[in-house]
Amino acid sequence: MKIGVPIEIKNNENRVGMTPSGVFELTKRNHNVYIQKNAGFNSGFLDEDYIEAGATILDTIEEVYSVADMIVKVKEPIEPEYKLIKADQIVFTYFHFASSEVLTNAMIESKSVCIAYETVEDADGSLPLLIPMSEVAGRMSVQQGAKYLEKPIMGRGVLLGGIPGVPPAKVLILGAGVVGVQAARMASGLGASVHVLDINMKALRHVSDVMPNNVISEFSSEYNIRKHIVDSDLIIGGVLIKGAKAPKLITRDMLKEMRPGTVMVDVAVDQGGCFETTKPTTHQDPTYIIDEVVHYSVANMPGAVPYTSTMGLTNVTLPYVIKLANDGWEKACDNSAALAKGLNIVKGEIVYKEIAEAFDMEMA
Ligand SMILES: NC(=O)c1ccc[n+]([C@@H]2O[C@H](COP(=O)([O-])OP(=O)(O)OC[C@H]3O[C@@H](n4cnc5c(N)ncnc54)[C@H](O)[C@@H]3O)[C@@H](O)[C@H]2O)c1
Repeated sequence: MKIGVPIEIKNNENRVGMTPSGVFELTKRNHNVYIQKNAGFNSGFLDEDYIEAGATILDTIEEVYSVADMIVKVKEPIEPEYKLIKADQIVFTYFHFASSEVLTNAMIESKSVCIAYETVEDADGSLPLLIPMSEVAGRMSVQQGAKYLEKPIMGRGVLLGGIPGVPPAKVLILGAGVVGVQAARMASGLGASVHVLDINMKALRHVSDVMPNNVISEFSSEYNIRKHIVDSDLIIGGVLIKGAKAPKLITRDMLKEMRPGTVMVDVAVDQGGCFETTKPTTHQDPTYIIDEVVHYSVANMPGAVPYTSTMGLTNVTLPYVIKLANDGWEKACDNSAALAKGLNIVKGEIVYKEIAEAFDMEMA
C-alpha cells in the first residue's frame, strides 16, 4: 500500500503521524511510505532519518495526498486539506467529528474512509489511542502547576516539594483516571502532599494500592472538595464522564474560599472543563486570573512536548497502521473489533451513531 504522511498544518500542531521507526516497519513489509518534506522536524525527526528508514520525501502536501492510498496524520484535516482527500482514500487520524459539522460534511463529500483514532475502542471500553495523550497531559499538569505556583507568575510562591523543615505543597487531584494517576505520580515524586478524589471505588483502590504514602485517595463529593480547596496550593481537574460534558466540580463561589495564588489546572477543558470558571487557553497565553486564583486550561497540552507526544501516539497507532496497510480497511476491520469501532464515515456514509445523532443526520 502507498501510505502518505503530510505535515500538520493546524495552528500550533507540532506532532507528526509517523516516526522513522514506523516507516521502517512498513517498508520492511513492502509498503511504500511518502513523507512530506520537514513533516517530522518539530518532533525531532529529520528527512534523512525517514529516508534511511526507507521513505520517499515529497515536497508538497498536494503530492502526498495525491499519491497515497492511506493518509496517516495527527489532527483532523482542516479546510485547505478537504479538497485534497480522494474517494476511497483511507484517512487515519484524530477527527472529533461531533464537534464540527463542516468537517463531517466535507468528509462525507470526499467519499473517503475516515477512521478516527479517538473512537478505536478495546473490549473493556478503553480508548487505546487516547490514553498516551492523557498520560502526557496528566504528567504535564504538575509540571505546569509547579511553574505557575511561582510568585513572579502570580502563584502563591510555594515550592511543590517543600524543603527540610518546611512542609511541601498540597495538591488536590479530581479524577483518578489516566490523567489523575499520572498527575499523582509526578506530584508525589516531587514530594508534595497529594489527595486524589474520584467517585469510582475501583479507581480509588488502584490509587491506594500503587501510590506511595504521600498520596491519599478519597471519595469525591462536594463536601470533600469544599474541605480540601481551602488549603490546596495546586488543584488539577482530570474528570471525565464518557460522551458527556465534564461536571462542574469547582464552582465560581468556591474561588473565594481558596488562598490567593492557588493554581488550578483544568485538563478536562476539552470536555468543557470541570471548573465553572474554565475557558480554553493556548500555549501562547496559557493562564488567566479570577479572584486571585491562577487558571491554566490549555486545550492541547501534549502539543507543547511534540517529541514525547509523537512517540507516545505512534507507539499505539502503528500496529493499526500495519493492519490497515497489510489487509486493506475492510479485512482489517473485520479482523479487529477495536479498529472497526474507529470507522466513522465510509465512502459518503456516516457509520458511527453518535456523529449521526450530533447533527441529526442519516446513518448508513
Ligand atoms: N487538555 C488536554 O490537552 C488534554 C489531554 C488529554 C486528555 N484530556 C482530557 O482529560 C480528561 C480526563 O481524561 P482521562 O483519560 O484521565 O479520563 P479517564 O476516563 O481515564 O478518567 C476520568 C476519571 O474521572 C472520574 N470522575 C467522573 N466523575 C467524577 C467526579 N464527580 N469526581 C471525581 N472523579 C470523577 C471517573 O470515575 C474516572 O476515573 C478528559 O476530559 C480528556 O479529554 C485533556
